[in-house]
Amino acid sequence: MVRLHGSHSRAAGRVADAVRGARRVSSAGAASAGAVGAGRQYEKRIMSGMQPTGVAHLGNYLGALKMWADMSRTVESGRERFFFSVVDLHALTLPKEPGQLREWKRQAAACFVAAGVHTDRCVLFEQSRVAAHTELSWILSCLAPMGLLNRMTQWKSKSNLGEVASIAGQDAESVLRGVHLGLFSYPVLQAADILVYKGTHVPVGEDQVQHLELTRDLAQMFNRAYGDVFPLPKTVLTPTKRIMSLRDPTKKMSKSDPSANAAIYLTDSDDAIARKIRKAVTDTVAGVTYDPEGRPGVSSLVEIVAGIEGRPVEEVVRTHFAGCESHRDFKQKVSDIVVAELRPVRAEYERVMADRAYLDRLLEAGATEACATTAKVMAEVREAVGLS
Ligand code: AMP
Ligand code: TRP
Repeated sequence: MVRLHGSHSRAAGRVADAVRGARRVSSAGAASAGAVGAGRQYEKRIMSGMQPTGVAHLGNYLGALKMWADMSRTVESGRERFFFSVVDLHALTLPKEPGQLREWKRQAAACFVAAGVHTDRCVLFEQSRVAAHTELSWILSCLAPMGLLNRMTQWKSKSNLGEVASIAGQDAESVLRGVHLGLFSYPVLQAADILVYKGTHVPVGEDQVQHLELTRDLAQMFNRAYGDVFPLPKTVLTPTKRIMSLRDPTKKMSKSDPSANAAIYLTDSDDAIARKIRKAVTDTVAGVTYDPEGRPGVSSLVEIVAGIEGRPVEEVVRTHFAGCESHRDFKQKVSDIVVAELRPVRAEYERVMADRAYLDRLLEAGATEACATTAKVMAEVREAVGLS
C-alpha cells in the first residue's frame, strides 16, 4: 500500500486560487514507477471513481478528491495518465429515482473539477458511457470465487444480510429474495473499472482497501489463467485515512447519515460550516491533544486540519492549538481553516454547475478517450481469453 504523506498540499488552501494552483504530491506517495505484475513493467495509470450520490462531503474531499487533484497536478515523468470516473452503474446497486440520479451525476462531476482535478491532464467520464467496464466485469466474474465476494464488509453492511438471515424459520430463497446480485458483484465491477485501464495506482479512502485487495486477487487470477495482461494496482491512501462524522466521531462521515450536521458538504456556506463544527461532538477535557481512542471528537477535528494542510497531526496540534484551552476557540480555529479551504472549491463548483455546456463537453471528451483506451486493453483481453 502506498501512503501519500507530508507537505504536498501545505500551501493549498492559503491562497484564493489554490484550487487551480500547483499542489504538490510527495514523490514517495505518488510512487515513482508503474506497478509490476508478474515481472512486467507498466506505464503509470492512476484510476479512481466516486459514486454519484449527491455533492461530495469533506470525507470524499480529503480522502479522495483532493488527492486526485494533487496527483494530477504533479507530473513526474509526463507519461502518467489519469482516469477519474463518476461510477453511475455502481450507484444503481441501491435504487435511485432517475431524475435524481441524472442530477447527482452532474454534481459529482462538478465536484471533481471544483476540487482541482487537472482537467487537461485527466480523463473525466461517466462509467456507463464506457461499455468495456461491464464486459470486463463479466469476464472477471467468471473467475471470481463467491466465497471471496461474501467476505466483503461493504456487501454485508449494505445488504443487511446478517439481519435478514437471523430471522428464524426463513428458507434460503426467501432470505435471498430481498438481496440483489448487483450489490454482491459490485466489487467485481470495481475491479473491472480499474483493470480495464491497466490501472497501476488507485487513490481512495480507507473504506476501499478491501475492494482493492480483491482487485489485485482478480488480476492475479486472470493473469494465471490467461497470461500476464494486468498490473497489480497499488492502493494510494492519504495519512488522514478516514474522516469521521461530526455527530459521532466513532463513525465515518457519510452521505447517508440521518443527521444533517454529521457531514460538511463542498457546497455548504461559511456559516453552515461554522455551525456544524461548533456543534461537533467533542468532550469536556480542557486543551487539545491527539488521542483517537480517548478523545475521538477532538482528534477527528485535528485530523481534518491535518488533511487540509497535509501535515502530521502532532505538528498541527503544536502549531495551531498549543495554547487553546477552550473548545470554543479550538472549534473556531478549525472552522476558519475549513472555511478558507472550501470557499474557492464552492465558488468553482457553482461556476461549473452554471455552465452546462462546459461539463457536457468535458464528459463527452472523457468518454471518447476512455473508450479509446479501453478498446486497446479489451482487444488484448479478448485475445488472451479466446473470445477473438
Ligand atoms: P463514495 O462516495 O462512497 O463513492 O466514496 C468516494 C471516495 O471517497 C472513496 O475513495 C472513499 O474511500 C472516499 N471516502 C468516502 N467517505 C470517506 C470518509 N469519511 N473519509 C475518507 N474518505 C472517504
Ligand atoms: N466503490 C467505490 C466507493 O464506494 C467507488 C468506486 C467504483 C471506485 N469503482 C472504483 C473507486 C474504481 C476506485 C476505483 O467509494
